[in-house]
Amino acid sequence: MKKNRFFIAPLLLALGMPAFAQDGGEVNVICSAQADWCNLIQITFAKTRGIKVNMTLKGSGEALAQITAERANPKTDLWFGGTGDPHLLAAEQNLTLEYKSATLPQLHVWAQKQAEQAGYKTVGVYSGPLGFGYNTELLAKKKLPIPKVWADLLKPEYKGEIQVSDPRASGTAYTMIATLVQLMGEDKAFEYLSALHKNISTYPRSGVGPIKAVARGEAALSISFVHDAPGEKAQGFPVDAVTPADGTGAEIGSMSLIKGARNLDNAKKLYEWALTPGAQQFGVTAKQFQLPSNKSTPLDPRIPDFKKIKLIDYDYAKYGQAAVRRQLILNWERKVFNQAK
Ligand code: G6P
Repeated sequence: MKKNRFFIAPLLLALGMPAFAQDGGEVNVICSAQADWCNLIQITFAKTRGIKVNMTLKGSGEALAQITAERANPKTDLWFGGTGDPHLLAAEQNLTLEYKSATLPQLHVWAQKQAEQAGYKTVGVYSGPLGFGYNTELLAKKKLPIPKVWADLLKPEYKGEIQVSDPRASGTAYTMIATLVQLMGEDKAFEYLSALHKNISTYPRSGVGPIKAVARGEAALSISFVHDAPGEKAQGFPVDAVTPADGTGAEIGSMSLIKGARNLDNAKKLYEWALTPGAQQFGVTAKQFQLPSNKSTPLDPRIPDFKKIKLIDYDYAKYGQAAVRRQLILNWERKVFNQAK
């Protein structure tokens, strides 16, 4: 975080933004993107608007649990980032506030659709596809191939070599379950997940945990968002990612205003700012390579090219429903997690 302060002032000037402005007050944010991006938002917004940002970092599932627990007395004003399904669920549960930004027409169709289907109680801020992360050196050393399709992960030679996060806390892992159910049908998907369980070494709580473990050589493979690999690579780790050739799902990273927010005016200011190309560029500054939702945000070449990926037609409305999520996570616990290896 300290490091960010050194490059923030010149960056703001380059973007034509005043280094200091004074709107005053504060805003309480839960951020479900990676820490570096959250920290950059915190520093930049405070400097440009004079609004103090109290930032809590939480995975998508944990953020949803906190917002649900705070329903009667919300302490959070804005929830930034994290997979879209829990944001849709929060909208369904009336935990978030209907708000139609004037910027909506400037966003990609998928981001607008995310807003529409939630009755404008959330909006898409970024998108990114799910795939396999791998440690290039470890795979070569162990003479293991790069997996190409979902079924490859079941090969016995990958036993103990794979990590994926825990869907109870992590939206990444929930996206994986929903993707597999849509690709294979529910019965086959759970058969697949329980076979995969034998090859999984551990289920970290955070969605980026597995790719970080792969980058550091603690695991050979991960199921991760592929946009999380270039950031690790940029730090010098031998890591890469592929999307499965037989199809995959993508998240619609979302943002929601909390119903009953105490600092609503400031939350709206941050919300509006986060939809601008200027703010969305900070993803890449923080080495996060999701596709930004504002069509005018300049694109870094490391952002995955969706045209080259076989994407399923992910049913966000269905998998963002509380009942569907509850049942899939319960099934995962019973049929996969609690099963002996
Ligand atoms: C990372 C990714 C984000 C994603 C988030 C989900 O930060 O870069 O694109 O939205 O993980 O986190 P979770 O811990 O809920 O899986």
